[in-house]
Amino acid sequence: MAKVKNVYICSQCDYRSPQWLGKCPGCGEWDTFSEAVPETRTRGTTKKPGGLHPLTSTRTEDNKRIGTSFAELDRVLGGGLTRSSTILLGGEPGIGKSTLALQTAANLSDGGSAIYVAGEESPEQLNGTASRLGLKTDTLQLLPERSLEVIIATLADIRPDLAVIDSVQVVYQESSMAPPASLSQLKTVTMALCETAKAAGTSIILIGHVTKSGDIAGPKALEHIVDTVLYLEGERFHRLRLLRAVKNRFGSTNEVGVFEMTETGMREVERPSELFLAERSVDQPGSAVVTVVEGTRPILAEIQALTSPTNFAYPQRVVNGVDQKRLAIVLAVMEKRLGYELSKQDVFVNAVGGLKLLEPGADLALALAVASSMLNRPVAADTAAFGEVGLAGEVRGVGDTQKRVNEAAKMGFKRIIGPKKSFDGVKSSGAILIGVENVVQAINAGLD
Ligand code: TYD
Ligand code: MG
Repeated sequence: MAKVKNVYICSQCDYRSPQWLGKCPGCGEWDTFSEAVPETRTRGTTKKPGGLHPLTSTRTEDNKRIGTSFAELDRVLGGGLTRSSTILLGGEPGIGKSTLALQTAANLSDGGSAIYVAGEESPEQLNGTASRLGLKTDTLQLLPERSLEVIIATLADIRPDLAVIDSVQVVYQESSMAPPASLSQLKTVTMALCETAKAAGTSIILIGHVTKSGDIAGPKALEHIVDTVLYLEGERFHRLRLLRAVKNRFGSTNEVGVFEMTETGMREVERPSELFLAERSVDQPGSAVVTVVEGTRPILAEIQALTSPTNFAYPQRVVNGVDQKRLAIVLAVMEKRLGYELSKQDVFVNAVGGLKLLEPGADLALALAVASSMLNRPVAADTAAFGEVGLAGEVRGVGDTQKRVNEAAKMGFKRIIGPKKSFDGVKSSGAILIGVENVVQAINAGLD
């Protein structure tokens, strides 16, 4: 038999060392090493060859889907929950992960069964939430449990259509030496639950907390283990929540689901543009409407800008929901090409409603909002704009022109300003397309 070697493993980062160390060279933490049960390797024994399968006759994965009551969630998943798969649902604490998962579990289509493994909240709390949300709970059962072994045994026995683990960070393997919530526990737990999902034909949602500081034992480390990774994003003080697929073995990663956090839980937003334009400040200087594309879906949103003479040596740039670097480019172009003295102005920019307008297609509306505030002239109320602004002040094409035009026309906009070349072959019913080649033309066309 081969000589058995001792292995010491860091509970924080999984670093392995042949001897005990006080400080981990991997993550720099102190006193995190513990001796692992030695792996006995048998060398030289003959193994039975593995069974080969011709690729064509191998049964493809059982892709049967289970619909949820949220069309937005189903779309992001690529057509509902896939049996035997694991989904990581990440997001900051308090963003609404538990609420979304609880509503999903209680409302599976065709009376699908679900188990909610509650490791964080008490059954009383969850019952309270469920009754406040008016959820029907006859197909949903609670399992207040943190032990991996008990959870696996229960799922293997009941084989529900869906199991929610809230959260994966509090589940621990009793037989493991690693401390609860350590990275090695988290990985072990996730891998074991992936196996369970396959064995039980269950779809498992693992809830994982992401902290702003980028916790080391966070869901990022689990992304390669699970089949699908969804992140729920939003601003704490806004109602809007975006559900993004960043990995999906069973669908596109380009999708975004739009939800609204209400007093009675998460509500899907079928027409996001209506939500974002609801409180628009029409006929006020400093506001412009942009058509952006989130995932595969066009959305109209309002960008507000305020310029005001600065009292500082360095003018302030206070930005919310818009890319700081893109704003810097737009301001520099406007200073150079239009002669606006923006270096003597503080500039405040806000994307209304908590949306993050990070695509270059938002540049032109940003320029319009800034110019509008600077010149104290409103952007025409029936006008929407999109396009990237280049360093020479030129307006560049962005993708999905037809989609952007359709959405703006549907929302009642009569004039759409965009890159001239992008409008080639684009049809519009009810709105005039104003193709521009540079920012100056856009501002002339856009301001009242
Ligand atoms: P929660 O789903 O518990 O967040 P997470 O699981 O991501 O930590 O939701 C947290 C917040 O949402 C909480 O502060 C209260 C609020 N909330 C509502 O606004 N409406 C509701 O119907 C519910 C259940 C919660
Ligand atoms: Mg929660």
